Amino acid sequence: MAAEIIDGRKIADSLLSALAEEIRGKGLKPKLATVLVGEDPASVSYVAGKIRACERIGVASDAHRLPASVTEGELLKLVGKLNADRSVHGILVQFPLPPHLSEKKVTEAISEEKDVDGFSPRSLGRLFGGDESMPAATPAGVTYLLEAAGVRIAGSHAVVVGRSITVGKPLAAMLLNRDATVTVCHSKTRDLASHTRQADILCVAVGKPGMVSAGMVKKGATVVDVGTTRVDGRLAGDVDFDAVREVAGKITPVPRGIGPMTIASLMRNTVRACERAAAR
Ligand code: GUN
Repeated sequence: MAAEIIDGRKIADSLLSALAEEIRGKGLKPKLATVLVGEDPASVSYVAGKIRACERIGVASDAHRLPASVTEGELLKLVGKLNADRSVHGILVQFPLPPHLSEKKVTEAISEEKDVDGFSPRSLGRLFGGDESMPAATPAGVTYLLEAAGVRIAGSHAVVVGRSITVGKPLAAMLLNRDATVTVCHSKTRDLASHTRQADILCVAVGKPGMVSAGMVKKGATVVDVGTTRVDGRLAGDVDFDAVREVAGKITPVPRGIGPMTIASLMRNTVRACERAAAR
């Protein structure tokens, strides 16, 4: 029997509706500042999606666009201004940045309580310590989706393919926080399939379209595809969806899988940041 398709759009929609209700009910006034540098079409479209989500649930947005030629000093100055602005609760600088700008420096410049992407060393450190008050947005989207889809994480063997600081590493930590046994694979892993075939939960975040074939998946496993690569203007995941669907028990599609969950998690982090600021 073909796998159940986990509808990330639907789960994200219900999370967004709950957040909208919370914002109204508690009278919160959350605001997200977005910073887009340059004109990369994928980044333009991602930021537009985040701003649409803000509008939908009652989060104010403060959109900044800077030319690709902006200096690091100018960008850091803007981040400093947003850090000091008490009406702003979350700051999102869309990556990738042009090569002359240090993503590390920019990430570290965002004040701790406004780091809604959860990428800063402090947020990641807290996450690895088991404190998920500002979880990295994509991994938080993955764990929320697994829980909403009724996938049992505790005691399962979760295999994460990809060790990026934005997805693979924090996702491994979040799965560990939920008592999974976690294996992290990467580009230097020998015999990748021997690891992936043991996974009850297989999460792939590499960015190589179709790299996970049916032979790499255990029968009945839950497969989460975090890959989003643009191929001929369309989004392609890391999993060979049609073939793997015949083996897996549950599977997320691309698009309509983890993408909407990342945006919903970002909104949740922004609302939480606003609540914490109101309580200070
Ligand atoms: N580029 C791709 N994904 C992300 C994300 O989740 N946050 C930011 N800031 N940039 C990204």
